[in-house]
Amino acid sequence: MIVSFLGTKGGTGTTTLAVNGAADLRRITRRPTIVIDLKTGPGDVALFLGLRPRHTVLHVIDQLSWMDPGAVSKYVTEHDCGLHVMAAGDEYGRPAPRDVEGIEQMLKCLNALYEFVIIDAGSTIAACTAIALQSSDMVMLVANPDVPCLRNLQRLIDAVKLAGVVGERLKIVLNRASEFGVMSTAQIERVLGLTIDYTLGSDYRTVASAVNSGVPVSALRTSELHGQLDAIARTIAGPAFRRGTPDDGSERSEDDPPEPEKRHRLSGVRPAVG
Ligand SMILES: Nc1ncnc2c1ncn2[C@@H]1O[C@H](COP(=O)(O)OP(=O)(O)OP(=O)(O)O)[C@@H](O)[C@H]1O
Ligand SMILES: [Mg+2]
Repeated sequence: MIVSFLGTKGGTGTTTLAVNGAADLRRITRRPTIVIDLKTGPGDVALFLGLRPRHTVLHVIDQLSWMDPGAVSKYVTEHDCGLHVMAAGDEYGRPAPRDVEGIEQMLKCLNALYEFVIIDAGSTIAACTAIALQSSDMVMLVANPDVPCLRNLQRLIDAVKLAGVVGERLKIVLNRASEFGVMSTAQIERVLGLTIDYTLGSDYRTVASAVNSGVPVSALRTSELHGQLDAIARTIAGPAFRRGTPDDGSERSEDDPPEPEKRHRLSGVRPAVG
């Protein structure tokens, strides 16, 4: 399953939600999960997880021979929580339109290797973003409850629909909902004539300490934000992982190994932490 997070504007929390969404999916399901930084220019995904990757998306595009798609694994970095990361390159302006084919191939390979592929798509619809959105089973539009963001939200919904993402594939996430207090979620829904699918409160202290420690929010002390992130991941994971079901993961230790079959599928992955 491919899930993209797209910001309605810079700084809405797209990376925070993509990284924590991916880490929670891995924690809850124990299935192979990767987060890909597809933002144009240097991204933050690896930084949020305290990683210094040797390889990036740009290495995959520039160096990988697509005759051997399995080799994509050697460009992946692994976090202690078991989440795999495909980091962004350092070049400004890339991935560029000429990289579309490489991105498409990379997504196909990773989708075959991983149960969950989570994409931080940044906040602009460039050529490579459009390919990611078209390949996605679900697109999460991340907004904050401020006027510029909400105005962009309406425009972005139209743009995303034009890219072919319609109906249940498109979800709207209101991040930092409690902070601005200008408009309630109900007011926003009424004014824009749409439904907000997920709401997350504002908790800068928790988010900042997770980034400072290079861990997901779920690795810190339980917080309301953690509960909200957990709930989103469980709906992505599917009904078997809803709270209270036998498979909800709450009985399992965080250190349990992944399922044998999935571990086999990923054998040969050599994390390259620099
Ligand atoms: N729910 C939240 N509560 C409080 N602070 C948050 C929350 N979500 C994100 N932030 C903070 O907002 C800032 C921007 O977050 P983040 O980098 O995830 O956004 P982004 O949309 O990926 O930004 P960019 O456009 O730079 O890629 C960070 O300082 C982050 O800690
Ligand atoms: Mg970001």
